[in-house]
Amino acid sequence: MKYDLKNLTLEEKINLLTGKYSKEDWILEDCNGKLPSVSVADGPHGLRDYHKPDECLSMPSAVVLANTWNTELAYLFGNTIADDYIEHDVQINLAPAINIKRTPLCGRNFEYYSEDPFLAGHIAKNYILGFQDQGIGTSLKHFCLNNNEYERNYQSSEVDERTIREIYLPAFEIALQAKPWTVMCAYNLINGIYASEHKKLMKDVLRDEFGFDGVLVSDWHAVCDRARSLKVKLDLEMPYSPTAYDEIMSAYKSGYITIEEIDESAGRMLELIEKTQCEKKVKYSKEQRLENARKIAREGIVLLKNEDNILPLKGGKIMLAGAMARYPIYSGGGSAGSFYKTSPSDRDRLFTEIQQRLSEEGTVYYGGDGAWTDNIRNYTSHSKVVYKNAYSADTVVLFVGDGMEDERENADRTKIKLHVQQEKMILETAKVNKNVVVVVNAGSAIDMSAWIDKVKGVVFMGYLGQTTKEALADILTGMESPSGKLSETFPLCLEDTPSGKNFGNGSVNRYEEGIFMGYRHYDEKELDVLYPFGHGLSYAKFEYSDLKVEKTGKTDYKVTYKIKNVSDVDAKEISQVYVRDVFSNVSRPQKELKGFNKTFIKAGEEKEIETNLNFRSFAFYSVALNKWHIENGDFEILVGASSRDIRLMEKIKIELPWEEQFSLEDGKYITI
Ligand code: GLC
Repeated sequence: MKYDLKNLTLEEKINLLTGKYSKEDWILEDCNGKLPSVSVADGPHGLRDYHKPDECLSMPSAVVLANTWNTELAYLFGNTIADDYIEHDVQINLAPAINIKRTPLCGRNFEYYSEDPFLAGHIAKNYILGFQDQGIGTSLKHFCLNNNEYERNYQSSEVDERTIREIYLPAFEIALQAKPWTVMCAYNLINGIYASEHKKLMKDVLRDEFGFDGVLVSDWHAVCDRARSLKVKLDLEMPYSPTAYDEIMSAYKSGYITIEEIDESAGRMLELIEKTQCEKKVKYSKEQRLENARKIAREGIVLLKNEDNILPLKGGKIMLAGAMARYPIYSGGGSAGSFYKTSPSDRDRLFTEIQQRLSEEGTVYYGGDGAWTDNIRNYTSHSKVVYKNAYSADTVVLFVGDGMEDERENADRTKIKLHVQQEKMILETAKVNKNVVVVVNAGSAIDMSAWIDKVKGVVFMGYLGQTTKEALADILTGMESPSGKLSETFPLCLEDTPSGKNFGNGSVNRYEEGIFMGYRHYDEKELDVLYPFGHGLSYAKFEYSDLKVEKTGKTDYKVTYKIKNVSDVDAKEISQVYVRDVFSNVSRPQKELKGFNKTFIKAGEEKEIETNLNFRSFAFYSVALNKWHIENGDFEILVGASSRDIRLMEKIKIELPWEEQFSLEDGKYITI
């Protein structure tokens, strides 16, 4: 270790445990130059350099990355934006944010990954690896159970142990395999105790059980009692707190905090500072970064509906309308927001991008703003302009969605329907033209029930960052087949969601649905949904066959299956592997995601795909035994194109001696 605690006074060690006093909120203590200065910054989709906002790449939002289901792209995502951090001399990125999407109303869903912890964890794990392989640290956040923004600083998430273990911790477990340099604790309380001082979750689980040995940092101003938080190994309070030093010093003098505890946290801070001093080298040119962003954006676009193969656009008179055709929303709002803006000269680039790809085949023109004018939502309806222009078009593409005011940090949505003028624009246009495609520019599920049957095509674009227009043009014109799939269920209406409109009462938010959230909920209640978890269409067509399940260990199985591309379009397919416990002595979901693959398959080609299952693929968390537990019996291995489009199924029987049906006796942690 280059930096040694022995060279620091007690005062310097205590100063290390909160941010540096400065006009910025982003600097760690350097003990008056004894240590290197370390900077941290948001955010998940690209560096937010307040001083040079235009210099940093605005990547697609996390929702888009998750909708790619592509762990290689997750790695590329982190690897790419790390270059901006290197160039701007920022050593730690305050990301990824991986809270589970419990409700589509959550304002920050655009910056989270999924309703399923297995998918969220694997995307986050590779994002972290991509970042840290470039020598830039990350901060896995927000630990934990911060699943909406309402009263986030004061409300207690009231959740039973099994639900915490099976739904809200596994994404962190998986992501921790990438060894993030830091983990950020959440603002909220969990079962009545603030996350920042939650001994069971922060010390017993995160550190002792999951083995996290990096720096635990608070969310900004999330610490309530600095001594109690230090006691549970929260190493760093951010940003600088004027009372932190005195709180720790008096706790030390009273004997509540020992010198060993101060040294342990200060020691982790020195290790972190040392990590930040590693050799760094910019890897990608600015052009390459943009190309990487566009690749991710393309693969995260989800084709939800394509009646009569209205897409890809083929030619003729193509009218684009809606404010977001000119002024797309690049990201949601808050600390994950993008600074990127449409310049007036750039506003028609989507049209030129599409026109170029269609060349003489088509004529692309703008049909009006719909509900918004010049990117300012004034709600004086302009849909009359739109549907008058739509009458003579061969195909109409309407752009609708939520803005940064709707989907952002510190606020939740109040509805999941589109704004009424946008719905009106769709309905009126569909009356005069039967060939309507709707492109949804939002960060989370949208209730489309009012208009879905009136249009032929629906594309969910999420927030695509600064390569929005190129990526959209590539997909809408068939330069590339869409290959994204939903990482969050789109329900028929808000009332069908597990928590409905309930955000709790400001002091307690009860997770009454337990483990039955997301697709687990809709399966359990046998509810129809608008579009299921894992759904997404392609311009190609895939057939699944030859599922084989081979036992390779006590509870290890190799799953192989084949997918054939029976179309004339090269494309990628996301296949999903679910596990079902046929009979159990506890309630269990109908199926749970335990594997997924994204595979490029040329037209006419067939590929064999492999996924491996392990103990945790079959186990539930037994609160009776405080262990992961596999009950002997029949299990079904389900392979599907979505959670509701199961193509193949095989049964296996697990028969273990009693003592082997539980996680290892010595309490050794079993990776998921
Ligand atoms: C915010 C967010 C957190 C962010 C931090 C610094 O409140 O909750 O995600 O990294 O503060 O901006």
